[in-house]
Amino acid sequence: MPRPNGLNALGIGLLSLGVLCAGSCGHPPVNEEDQPSTTTDFGKLYGTNCAGCHGADGTHGPGPRIGDPLYLAFVTRETIRAVVEHGIAGTPMPAFGPSESGPLSGKQLDALVDGLESHWGKKADAGAPPLPPYSEEDSIQSGLEPGDPDRGHHVYLQNCAFCHGTGKGASAFGPVATPSYVAIASNQGLRTTIVVGRPDFGMPDWRHRPPHPIASQEISDVVAWLASLRPTYSKVKPITVVPTNLQEQNP
Ligand code: HEC
Ligand code: HEC
Repeated sequence: MPRPNGLNALGIGLLSLGVLCAGSCGHPPVNEEDQPSTTTDFGKLYGTNCAGCHGADGTHGPGPRIGDPLYLAFVTRETIRAVVEHGIAGTPMPAFGPSESGPLSGKQLDALVDGLESHWGKKADAGAPPLPPYSEEDSIQSGLEPGDPDRGHHVYLQNCAFCHGTGKGASAFGPVATPSYVAIASNQGLRTTIVVGRPDFGMPDWRHRPPHPIASQEISDVVAWLASLRPTYSKVKPITVVPTNLQEQNP
């Protein structure tokens, strides 16, 4: 029966120490940019932190379609940067930035924003009607009214109910006019989906709603109606536009 051999055990111990040291003792990592905690490689950052919700190529995920030239033309860089840094309260979108004790550094956030644009941000189709304002706040600043839930209900029945149901009973696709859905979706999240659509799943963007593109006012109205269904337990903030002062702190 073999017995434990003290010398051998020590030898193995030293050997493994040697192996460990070969990698790190006294030497900086071969390439800091390649370490998971410091990498600024877009593919790695996106794959590790975002793909699970937004889909491997920015589409077909349970979270919004961000790998889409239309989305990237709709949103500003500053907004993406602020959303990724701070997250969206009450929704599944986490905060990744250092100011929220998130896992990513400022440099990594910049790499993500640059990468989203360089990988997926081609110009939106030429000849398309101008994009609706990104947020309801922008829409009001452009001279439109705040969203009106009563008008919005009508817009919903005309434009959305044949796919998403009336909120009561069955629907062809996922029901969105329900308290449990809007409990975890922000107003901006709803607005973004209405404008960008989910062409990956068969929902057209705002331009393709016969008989005419859905108007910016109608978008604010339908969001106001959906938001009015939000239950009191929801942690979504009524206004989810990232305040400009937060954006300025994180240029
Ligand atoms: C032609 C069918 C169709 C129409 C019309 C349509 N949708 Fe959708 N919508 C879909 C499909 C398909 C999905 C993706 C699968 C799902 O979540 O049900 C979707 C997803 C959504 C989502 C969830 C987004 C996400 O990322 O999970 C929201 C919110 C939504 N739609 C709102 C609306 C609103 C509001 C309207 C009307 C302005 C509308 N949809 C019109 C088919 C449609
Ligand atoms: C756990 C799921 C989850 C993860 C992980 C996640 N997201 Fe999100 N993200 C969401 C959801 C859900 C929303 C929509 C929230 C809302 O507004 O209702 C969202 C919203 C966003 C938006 C704003 C969309 C708009 O309306 O303009 C951006 C930009 C975004 N995510 C980028 C990222 C990036 C980049 C990463 C990786 C660093 C990431 N997300 C990781 C779930 C996730």
